[in-house]
Amino acid sequence: MTDFERWLSEQARQREDAGLTRRLVPRHPAEQVIDLAGNDYLGLARHPRVVEGAVSAAREYGAGAGASRLVTGTLTLHEDLERALAGFTGFPTALVFSTGYHANLSAVSALTDDDTLVVSDSHVHASMIDACRLSRARVHVVPHNDVAAVDAALAARTQPRAVVLVETIYSVLGDAAPVRELADVCAAHGALLIADEAHALGVAGVDGRGLLHEAGLGDRSDVVGTLTLSKSLGAQGGAVLSSPAVREHLVNRARPFIYDTGLAPAAAGGALAALDVVQDDPGRVATVNSVAALLAEACGVEPPAGAVLAVPMPGPLEAVAAVEKAAANGVRIGCFRPPSTPDGISRLRLTAHAQLERHQLDWAVRVLDELL
Ligand SMILES: Cc1ncc(COP(=O)(O)O)c(C=O)c1O
Repeated sequence: MTDFERWLSEQARQREDAGLTRRLVPRHPAEQVIDLAGNDYLGLARHPRVVEGAVSAAREYGAGAGASRLVTGTLTLHEDLERALAGFTGFPTALVFSTGYHANLSAVSALTDDDTLVVSDSHVHASMIDACRLSRARVHVVPHNDVAAVDAALAARTQPRAVVLVETIYSVLGDAAPVRELADVCAAHGALLIADEAHALGVAGVDGRGLLHEAGLGDRSDVVGTLTLSKSLGAQGGAVLSSPAVREHLVNRARPFIYDTGLAPAAAGGALAALDVVQDDPGRVATVNSVAALLAEACGVEPPAGAVLAVPMPGPLEAVAAVEKAAANGVRIGCFRPPSTPDGISRLRLTAHAQLERHQLDWAVRVLDELL
């Protein structure tokens, strides 16, 4: 055995002993499972109009964008999607990326430098944490949703600039950030707020336009939104919502944007069609919220701000056992275990879906009742 192989097997043994081994479970489209784990909240990934949007974009533009955006990889389709996303969320401009991960990496790393203090909520997504590592800024992590701690960190800073990182609806606990208060605190200290709308777009705010739109923050030059096209829009990709000046800066300075091939046409076409469906039928947004409230009641937790529900469990092994038991009953739920939880508590993670039929929901509620 080489030293490297010994190290790999020791790492695997430690994961196994701690009950933290992750395994990939392939999903076949024909399987009959009630999905309460995926992020296709509005059931749009297989919606005929969305699939047709993806197919016709691939036919027209090809399977890939063919180059990075600054070379030849900016398509007229990207511009259509950017206009639609900006219009829907109430921001002046949008810039699309190949993933939401890239959107966060780009926004945070390009808008900070060693003269910037980054104040980050302790629950932000891994993509924002990795973005902090990419930036050369000093990072101050504050307790979750603690506006006073953000205020104090900004007031005490020695750096000329500051950026505050939050999610508008958090991916692990499913709770909302006090975005308006955060934006006010940022404004008082001349700081920029970067808020990730990944779990709010399509499920929260007026007709799913997100919490920044609801709070009227889209036209503020000191607020930047990031989002993913891979959750409620059922496609793939990400976007940054901002002022024209921030967009222009990202195009010129964001390395995960500059050195990455443009968003694939099928993903862009699918996302654009999904946005149309959401606007034509806002009833889907209301439905996902009522399904979330029903599941929350079945799990004995508060109704969530969006589609994500978190149910605390005694430990990682209990969480995995519950997931397996639900699966044996035809219901797929997820779980978060350390190190993916910000506070070390293992949780079941359930997501609400607008397309579930009444009998599927009834069955899911029965299974959850027995499980919990
Ligand atoms: C809060 C949050 N931000 C960003 C991302 C990354 O988005 P994408 O999957 O499009 O890379 C995710 C996805 O899991 C997320 O939950």
